[in-house]
Amino acid sequence: MASTASMQVLVASNRGPVSYDVRPDGSLHAKRGGGGLVSGLSAIGPDTGALWVCSALSDGDREAVRRGVGGGGPPARAKPRVGDGVRMLDIPADVHEDAYNGIANSVLWFVHHMLYQTPLEPVFDAEFRRQWASYETYNRAFAEALAEEAAEGAAVLVQDYHLCLVPGMLRELRPDLRIGHFSHTPWAPPEYFRMLPDDIRARLMEGMLGADRVAFLTWPWATAFQRCAEQVDPERWIGAWPSGAPRSIEHLLDGRRITRETLIGVHGLGADAEFLHARSHEADVEERLVALRAEIGEGRKAIVRVDRTELSKNIVRGLLAYRQLLDDHPEWRERVVHVAFAYPSRQDLAVYREYTAEVQRLSDEINSQYGTPGWTPVVLHVKDDFARSLAAYRLADVALVNPIRDGMNLVAKEVPVVSDEGCALVLSREAGAFQELGKDAIAVNPYDVVGTARALHEALTMPLDERAERTKRLAAAATALPPAQWFLDQLGALNG
Ligand code: G6P
Repeated sequence: MASTASMQVLVASNRGPVSYDVRPDGSLHAKRGGGGLVSGLSAIGPDTGALWVCSALSDGDREAVRRGVGGGGPPARAKPRVGDGVRMLDIPADVHEDAYNGIANSVLWFVHHMLYQTPLEPVFDAEFRRQWASYETYNRAFAEALAEEAAEGAAVLVQDYHLCLVPGMLRELRPDLRIGHFSHTPWAPPEYFRMLPDDIRARLMEGMLGADRVAFLTWPWATAFQRCAEQVDPERWIGAWPSGAPRSIEHLLDGRRITRETLIGVHGLGADAEFLHARSHEADVEERLVALRAEIGEGRKAIVRVDRTELSKNIVRGLLAYRQLLDDHPEWRERVVHVAFAYPSRQDLAVYREYTAEVQRLSDEINSQYGTPGWTPVVLHVKDDFARSLAAYRLADVALVNPIRDGMNLVAKEVPVVSDEGCALVLSREAGAFQELGKDAIAVNPYDVVGTARALHEALTMPLDERAERTKRLAAAATALPPAQWFLDQLGALNG
C-alpha cells in the first residue's frame, strides 16, 4: 500500500468546513464545522498539504473569497483560498442555485431517497435540462480547481451527490490522480434510478465511474449502485462480485475486453464517542437538561426525535404514530411527552417549507386535541441547538428514528452513546444504521403508522435492565468505526 503519510490529500464537497459572516463593522467572522471529514483530515496530520475544495455558499463566503482571507496573497489572486487548507469556489450564484437546489436537492436527493409522488412528478422538461447544464458547469469548476491544486499522484476524495460528475471530469484532466467518491446518502434501486432520462443516467455513471473507488455507508446502497451501473449500459459496465475480494465495476471495451475497474467499498461512519461523552457533560448541556426536564414534567417518559427537517426523515408520520399511541393506549396520556426537534433545512425549497409547516400544524393539532392544563403532549423545537439536542439524548426513554430512507442516520448512533440511563431505539429498517443496530433496536416500517405506534408502546414498556443492556450493545456497535478511522480506511483502500 502506498504510504498515506506523505501523500497529498484533497477533499471536495459542496459545503465546506468553514463559513463566514460579515459583521456590522465589516470584519469577517469564521464559523468552523465538525463531522467525519473534519476529524479525518485532522487525523492525517498537518504536513500533508491537505486541501479542502468547497463552494462559497453565503454572501459572507463570497466576500471572504474576494478578500483572500487567510491565504496571505492579494485579494484578486487567481486562486483564492479561505483560511488554511480550504479553497472556496466562487461559482456564480445562479449556477450554484440551479446545481444545488435544482438538481442535487430536487432531483438526485429525491431519486436516492425515493421521494417522488409519481403520478405528478418527476417531469424532466426544458427547465430541468437548463438546470442540468448548470450542474455540469458547477461540477466542472470543482474538477478544474482540483486538477490545478493536486500534486502528482495525490489522492482526491470527492463527496456526495452534488459532485457525481467530478471523478470522470477530473480523470480526463489528471489521469495520474487516485480518485475516490463517497456517497453519504442511499443509492436508488435500479427501477427508481431509471426514471432519470437515459442520457442523464449515463452521464451520472460516467462521472461516478471515473473514480478508482466509489464507497457507500452500507452494502445495500453499494449493491444498488452496482446494479444501476450494469443496467445503464451492460456493454460498457459490468459488476464483479467475487467472494472474499473487493467488488467492482469492470469497464469493458466493445462489451468484452476489460480496460479498467472501479472498486466498490463500504465504510459505515460511526459516532465519535470521545467527543460526545465530553461535550454532553458541559455546562450548557446541563442547563438545557434542567430546562427540558421542566418542560416535560415530573415523572413522565420522553420519546425523543432530533432531525433536520428533511422530507426523508418522516417527522409527520412520527407524529401520526404518536397520536395513534395516545388513541390505542390512553393510559399513556399525561404520562409521556414527544420531544421533537425539527431543525430547519433547505428552506429555499417550497416543498421543504411546506413540510416544515405541516410538522408545526400537526404538533399544534395534537396538543390542542389531547393536551391538558398540566400536560403538553408534543414539545416541538425548530431552532437548531446542539447542546439541547445532547440534553434530549441524555434523558430520552425512547428515541424515534423512522426515516423513509437514510444513508446512515447518526442520531440513531449518537443517542445510545450519550444516554444517561439507557434508551430504547425505535428504528426504521430503511435507515443505513439499521444494518448495524437492527438487532438491538425495535424495527419499524416507516410507512406503517399503526405499527410504529405499537413499537413506541413496546419501547416505553421495555424493562429498564433490558433497555440498559441493549443500549450498551447499541453504543458499542455505533462507535465501531469512529470518524477519523472511517476517513483513514477510505484513504488506505483508495491507495491500496
Ligand atoms: C445530509 C446528507 C448528506 C448531505 C447533506 C447536505 O446531511 O446526509 O449526504 O451532504 O445533507 O446538506 P446541505 O444542508 O448542505 O444541503
